[in-house]
Parts: sequence; C-alpha cells; structure tokens
Amino acid sequence: MSDLIQLTKDGDIAIITINNPPVNAISPGVPEGISEAIDQISKDASVSAAVVIGGGRTFIAGADIKEFTKMTSGKAKTGPGLLSLLLKIENCSKPVVMAIHGTAFGGGLEVAMSGHYRVAAPGAQVGQPEVKLGLIPGAAGTQRLPRLAGVDKAVEMCTDGNPVKAPDALKAGIVDQLIEGDLLKGAVAFAREIAGKPAPRTRERNQKLGTPEQNAPIFAAARENVRRKQRNLIAPLAAIDAIEAASTLPFEEGCQVEAKLFIDCLYSDQSKALIHVFFGEREVAKVPDIPKETSTIPVNSAAVVGAGTMGSGIAMVFANAGIPVLLKDADRTALDRGLTNIRKNYAASVHRGRYAQQAVDERLALIKPTLTYDDFTQADMVIEAVFEGLALKKEVFGELDRVCKSGAILASNTSTLNIDEIASSTSRPASVIGTHFFSPANVMRLLEIVRGKASSKEVVATCMQLSKRLGKIGVLVGNCRGFVGNRMFHPYVREAVFLVEEGASIEAVDQALYNFGMAMGPLATNDLAGLDVGWRIRKEYRHLEKPGIRQAFAADHLCEMGRFGQKTGAGWYKYDENRKPSPDPEVAALTKKWSAEAGIPQRQISAEEIVDRCIYALVNEGARIVEEGYALRAVDIDITYINGYGFPAYRGGPMWYADTVGLKKAYDHISEFHRTHGELWEPAPLLKRLAAEGRTFADLDKQKVAAG
Ligand code: NAI
Repeated sequence: MSDLIQLTKDGDIAIITINNPPVNAISPGVPEGISEAIDQISKDASVSAAVVIGGGRTFIAGADIKEFTKMTSGKAKTGPGLLSLLLKIENCSKPVVMAIHGTAFGGGLEVAMSGHYRVAAPGAQVGQPEVKLGLIPGAAGTQRLPRLAGVDKAVEMCTDGNPVKAPDALKAGIVDQLIEGDLLKGAVAFAREIAGKPAPRTRERNQKLGTPEQNAPIFAAARENVRRKQRNLIAPLAAIDAIEAASTLPFEEGCQVEAKLFIDCLYSDQSKALIHVFFGEREVAKVPDIPKETSTIPVNSAAVVGAGTMGSGIAMVFANAGIPVLLKDADRTALDRGLTNIRKNYAASVHRGRYAQQAVDERLALIKPTLTYDDFTQADMVIEAVFEGLALKKEVFGELDRVCKSGAILASNTSTLNIDEIASSTSRPASVIGTHFFSPANVMRLLEIVRGKASSKEVVATCMQLSKRLGKIGVLVGNCRGFVGNRMFHPYVREAVFLVEEGASIEAVDQALYNFGMAMGPLATNDLAGLDVGWRIRKEYRHLEKPGIRQAFAADHLCEMGRFGQKTGAGWYKYDENRKPSPDPEVAALTKKWSAEAGIPQRQISAEEIVDRCIYALVNEGARIVEEGYALRAVDIDITYINGYGFPAYRGGPMWYADTVGLKKAYDHISEFHRTHGELWEPAPLLKRLAAEGRTFADLDKQKVAAG
C-alpha cells in the first residue's frame, strides 16, 4: 500500500490513516492508497467497520491545486478523478466512518461525504471552496452535498465557498455527531455502535432534495444573488446548475452534468486566472536576494505619526493584530478627530456583528493617543502618516531619528515621495522603508513595501513578515515615482480623462470599466480619492513633463472650480448627503466646451475602445516597471492591482490579462494607439520583445523563479 496511507486495527474496527503532510492533500498516491485499504477491509472477515482519519493536524484539506494546472496544460489526465474511489467507499460492505478534524475542504469533503457516517471534532470545518478558484466540486460534491444538507445549504456552500464550522455542519446534517476529546477513540466507539446495522449511502438519500416547485425560488434567488455579488463569474452559476441537476436527475446523470460543468470551468480563463492569483499571493512573499532565514526585528510595539485618514486606520491595523500602538498628532483637534473616527469605525463593526464589544474594547485599549514623542523610545516600529510634503516628512524623520531607539524601523506611508530622500534626513537610512497602506487602511489588503536603496535586508524581511501578521498582502516594490500601483494608475486615469475630452460621457467611461470587472470606474474612483490629490501632484511635477505632450485638463479645471470629488459633494459626478452619485449635466456641458476650446474633435467612442485605452495603459506602464525592476515579477503587479485597485481577480491582474489576450495583440493595440495618440503610447520595450518572441509575462516570471 502507498506509504501515504496506513491501515491498522483496533479490535474489529479498521483504521485508515491518511499521512500526506502538511495538509493531507489529495496528491497522487492518496486515492490509490485509500482504494487498496478499502479492498483489504472488504475481504477481512474480522473487520466489522472502518474509520478514516487524517494524520497530523487535519483531515483532507483539499485537492492538490497544482494538479488542476497540470490538467489544463496537458501534463495530467482529467479522468474520472476521485469519482470511482468514492463509489467504492460508498459501496463498501462494511460501514465507513469519516472522522474529521482540522478541515475537510473541497475534495476532502467529497471524500468525507462518500462515507456512511461522519463524525467531527468540535473545532473542525467543512466546505466546498472550489468556487474561489473558478471551479465547482468535481467529485460529486454538488450531488452528495444537497442530499445531506438540502439544496439551500448546498447552494450557499458551493457559491460562496466559505467554511462551515462543525456545529453548523451537524445542524445541517453534513456530520452525524461531534466528538469531544480524543477524535479517533470517539470515532472507533461510534463505528462499533453502528457496525452490523444497515449503512446509509449518501447517493441514495433523496429525502432532502425537495420538489421542483420548492426549489425554483431557491435557485432563482441564488442566481440573482450571484449576478449581483459575484459579477461576471461563471463558476458559482455552474455550481447552481449542477445542484439543480442533483435535484432533478438520478445520481449518475447528475454526476455527468457536474463533470461537464467542472471541465468547462477548469478550462475557463477565469479559473486559470484565479489559480494564478492563488499561487501569486504566495509568490509575492519571496524576495530573491532575501532568503527565508534572514533575521527579522521583533515588532511588539508600534507608533504612528499623524492621526488623519491614514494614520488612524493604520493604528487600527496594529491594534487589530494585538500590537500596542501610540498615535501621535501635532494638533489636539486632529488627534481627537482621529480617535473619534476610530471609535465610530469599531462601533460600526460591532453593529454589523463583525466584532464583539469586548474585542473592540481590547483593541481600543491598545491605541494610546499622544501629542508628544515622549514614549516613542519604546517603539519597535514607527509609521509616519503626516501630510504629503517632503519638507514636513524630512522634519518628522529628523525628529524620529533623535527620539527612537537604535534598530527601530522608521517607515513612511508616503504615496508619492522619494524614500531615499526621506531617509537622508536620518543618521540611519538602513532602518528607513516605505509602508504604503491603501485607504481605508483597516480594510484594504494591499501593503506596498517600498525598498529604499539603503533599506537593510532585516528591515525589508521584517516588513514582509509583518504584513502577514497585520492581515495584509505585502508586495515589495522599488522606489520610483508613484511606486508600482500609483505609477500605473496615473496613465490609467489619464486615458479615462482623455476619453472624456474626446467625446465619451463620464458615465460611459465608468460603466465600460465596471462592466470589464473593475470594482469602480476610474472617474468615480477619482472622486472617491479626491481630485485634488492628483491635481497637487500634477502641479508639483509639471516641470518634469516633456513639452508638447498632451496633458489632460478636465480634472484640473474641475479642481479650479472647487470640485474635489465626494468630499466637496461634487467632482466628475454630483453627490447627495449620503454620497450617492448622480450624473451632472453641468460637467458634461463644461467638458464639451473645454474640448472645443482646446480643438479636440468629438467622436463616438465604443465601450471596447474605452476598456482597451485604459487597461492597455496599465499594461504598457506595468511592462516598463517589470523591465526596470521596480516590481520583482509581473505577478507582483497583478496582486497589487487586485488587492489595492479593484481589478477583477478572475482576470488575474493586468499583466495576466495581457497574457490571456495575447501579448502580440496587446502590442498591436498599443502600437496603434501610439500612431493615433502620440508619444505617451510608445510601446514598452519589454512588451515589444515578448510579443515578438511569442512569450508571456508568466513565462518571464517562471524564468526568474528558475534563476532564483
Ligand atoms: P490627513 O491630512 O488626513 O492626515 C495627516 C495628519 O497628520 C493630520 O491629522 C495632521 O494634523 C497630522 N500632522 C501633520 N504634521 C504633523 C506632525 N509634524 N506630527 C504629527 N502629526 C502631524 O492625510 P492622509 O490622507 O492620512 O495622508 C497621510 C499620508 O498618507 C500622506 O503621506 C499620504 O500621501 C499618504 N496616503 C494617503 C492615502 C489616502 O487615500 N488618503 C493613501 C495612501 C497613502
């Protein structure tokens, strides 16, 4: 038998233990081993029942995701998979009890459901998370789960993919009993009790499947819910179709429907993109010149300078991670406002049921407001979030240099300023780094970690590690203007404004990109962030722009009118007191007038062109960033855009999207824009090269990983 599976006995009860650390994934060898064990116990007259249990910390946590990629790239077979094993377990003449601790996710739950009974440790969790990878369960999960839990619960689990805790799984009928204490002992006792009694087969349990009349509203509501909350996604709809098949067709036919839908999803661009994102989120933690063993600085206390929008959010991030944090502002009113906002924010979380009052009280107790630097000597890390101005930041860092202990990390939340320049105001540039949080800091997952030329490896490694502790995805970027995210966002919004100046309506621009999958259109995003932010930056850097290059003017004119976006009740849109936007005919008329004055011909612009102009602007700038080394890999840009800029995960990020479209096609589009719209569209040399060689950004990343 495969050494991944052990077969032992406790009297008349056979025990099948899965030992495929760390999470007992269903890698090659696991199904074969279980199958052999089932054959043996079937033949063994001294066995009256069997228990299947996971060795180590979990039952089967799921499929081996690499196997999916192998299937679509032709390196592994997409055969009947687990299905035949599950039938064998279900047909076993001895009752099989699945004993679940840790997690039984995906294929793990499908295996568990093929047993005749399931018992679970109270802390265990079950789930069908395939949808998060653009897939549906492919080993009869959509057929057995509704038979155990009912159609409604199965639809919920297969469309949202979220885990279900053992007590809820018991209530739903997915598990038969919870076992306190020793799970194996309890499972063996359970097996002994049911041995010899007729064993229920899940596939024959049809009582919970309901009638078409009962189910019709459930499916209709679920489809509507998916269309609203999981916009453009195909896997959750496929999961509903498969469960509907379970409720109307015999088991075998239902399995065939599931198999077809599974294959459709597996080969879809969406699933490939989501699997790319899954691995990408792990990849970005790796920094080639900073090995895993690099020593890190313990961060047990922190301090934040500036209690504004960002500073107060960042203080919450530390408190949420259980790290005590000082929150300093120069101004008492600003400090009080920051604290009020923090309290309001936590109160809203309690109201929504996200946190218990006690948890919030504990967090609030970790945030210590102050108007002085007196206690800063204690802090292991300081994050500066004062107004965006170089002189002010340098002054603050000079002060931090004087008061902070040696070895403390001095980080800036600047979104545009030069980290090396800031570091130069201290005597310890090796301790200085950028930690660029995104607004709202306590919500957004992205943390851009900006490596200065002097930042030490320990400081970089600490921030990368800390990002996980703070519940963020840390992406390491180089120190260039706008770093990675905002550097790319600039041409993206620029094109959106150009399109308006060329005759597209504001709503058409936003709608096209929203339909593409962006969380918000670029102009609505602009209004949310504040039009004045970009305006100030443009003014500051205008002297660096090459003369004769087209400049967008509409946003600047809006700012000159005091229309800064949501915060002033008007920007590209107008806003009511609840910040609900509506189109503003005045702005539509003004943009027409400004364009006429500037001599820009007006034309009909298709949604397709809007998407191409904005998204290829991201891709072209992204290619430059990769080539210049400011992002370590193309996938780092993808993860940045998905977690910080609302790019749809099911398109894999801008660079993966370009790969999917084909780099030759992307390059041709960009070259065409170069011809018609001028110098700003000069194709990035890397894009040109990869397109000519028939390669992709993903190929380039692989090559880098291979080179270490
Ligand atoms: P803000 O204007 O809301 O807050 C700045 C705070 O710093 C104010 O409360 C002010 O009283 C305080 N302050 C000024 N000088 C100080 C000093 N010497 N000592 C202590 N406190 C001082 O600004 P916001 O939006 O929070 O931005 C802060 C930083 O974060 C900026 O560098 C900005 O570029 C960056 N950032 C902002 C984002 C946003 O969406 N607002 C996103 C990412 C980064």
